[in-house]
Amino acid sequence: MFDKKFLEKLNEAKKIVFFTGAGISAESGIPTFRGADGIWKKMKPEELASFDAFMRNPDLVWEWYQHRRNIINNTKPNAGHYAIAEFEKYYDVTVVTQNIDNLHRRAGSTKIFELHGNIERNYCINCRTFYNSPELEITSGVPKCKKCGGLIRPDVVWFGEVLPQDQFNGAEAAAEYSDICFVVGTSAVVYPAAYIPMSAKQAGSYIVEINIEPTELTRYADYSIFGKAGEVLPQILEEVKKIKS
Ligand code: OAD
Ligand code: ZN
Repeated sequence: MFDKKFLEKLNEAKKIVFFTGAGISAESGIPTFRGADGIWKKMKPEELASFDAFMRNPDLVWEWYQHRRNIINNTKPNAGHYAIAEFEKYYDVTVVTQNIDNLHRRAGSTKIFELHGNIERNYCINCRTFYNSPELEITSGVPKCKKCGGLIRPDVVWFGEVLPQDQFNGAEAAAEYSDICFVVGTSAVVYPAAYIPMSAKQAGSYIVEINIEPTELTRYADYSIFGKAGEVLPQILEEVKKIKS
């Protein structure tokens, strides 16, 4: 079913990177950004996902993140997340995700770089005290810092903001040292995150794309598998088990 060259690569590989986007969580019921009913089809990012938007209307922005937290808290990792976690039995695996939903960690992956932050964490914009989401009191609008009264924001990357340097650097190093870089469920149009698979490619890693449709990355990929992440990843894991047994 899979390409012979790809199976050879799976046999030889030691270090594997999974670079993931919203598509891996789609089968858990979390909306993606750019599909037909993607979030950015209905909402304007500059009105919800920027620091200016937050300062203009902190309650609105906070409530939108609360809404997304509720969706995330009521969902579970899917077969794709679990397959990635199980790859750790066979390879040195690094997950590099653009998602803020924490589902890779909940599925059991241990080495994760989060390029766009994590919706479970929040911090005060004045004094940078950190708060986990569950420990914040449920308020109708934006919560205030217990130490200084400042506004608390989600620890996610908004438009116009820089990515967390340690996460990006760690991700880039892992990509450059990887033998295979899987690019799963991302449109690969948002930079600088989308540099990660390009860095892997330039350093000689074998790029395998898994997506339901072609993307910006398809022409750079060594191998493209078109299908749902929650179906394709478990199938690849089965091949790995055969190879390694
Ligand atoms: P997008 O919504 O841009 O892309 C989702 C991708 O997943 C598309 O290429 C779909 O074809 C694919 N897809 C959908 N369902 C799938 C499935 N079941 N299996 C496999 N693939 C599937 O999401 P991202 O690429 O993650 O940034 O978007 C990147 C960034 O843009 C996000 O991190 C977010 C957004 O603005 C920030 O919030 C900073
Ligand atoms: Zn504070």
